[in-house]
Amino acid sequence: MTDKAILYRDLAAQLESLIEGDPDRIANAANMAALIYHGLPDLNWAGFYFTQGGELVLGPFQGRPACVRILWGSGVCGAAAARGATVLVPDVHEFPGHIACDPVSQSELVVPLVEGGRVTGVLDLDSPKLARFDAEDQAGCEALVRIFLGQ
Ligand code: SME
Repeated sequence: MTDKAILYRDLAAQLESLIEGDPDRIANAANMAALIYHGLPDLNWAGFYFTQGGELVLGPFQGRPACVRILWGSGVCGAAAARGATVLVPDVHEFPGHIACDPVSQSELVVPLVEGGRVTGVLDLDSPKLARFDAEDQAGCEALVRIFLGQ
């Protein structure tokens, strides 16, 4: 097992115990954002956007204040929501339409929350390092999202 796989295994165990038994989505999202932000190295933002109508609206997060509303299909978050699939961006400057909430961000990973075939939001991670995220981060964060959704 790689160090990163062990890190994600430990985060998954901590997330399970943090959200176990409490159905409040906002509280669980807030704790999950804090767990990820403080548990993964080299992040400058970690948090949620939730679907409301044709938009994504800012939810619990850690990091600097961020854009409140993102149109479906816009930016990395909107692209992940529209595709219903994770979007991994090694260099945000090369992603057409990237929304620069924090100019420090260089790379980004966005995992959609898919429930009953619908995208109910996204988990967004930003890093000040280029190519911070790889396939292991993608798999690890997708597993955390499944725990969050009770899947
Ligand atoms: N960069 C994102 C916007 C959200 S912030 O990074 C918190 C995007 O392009 O969708």
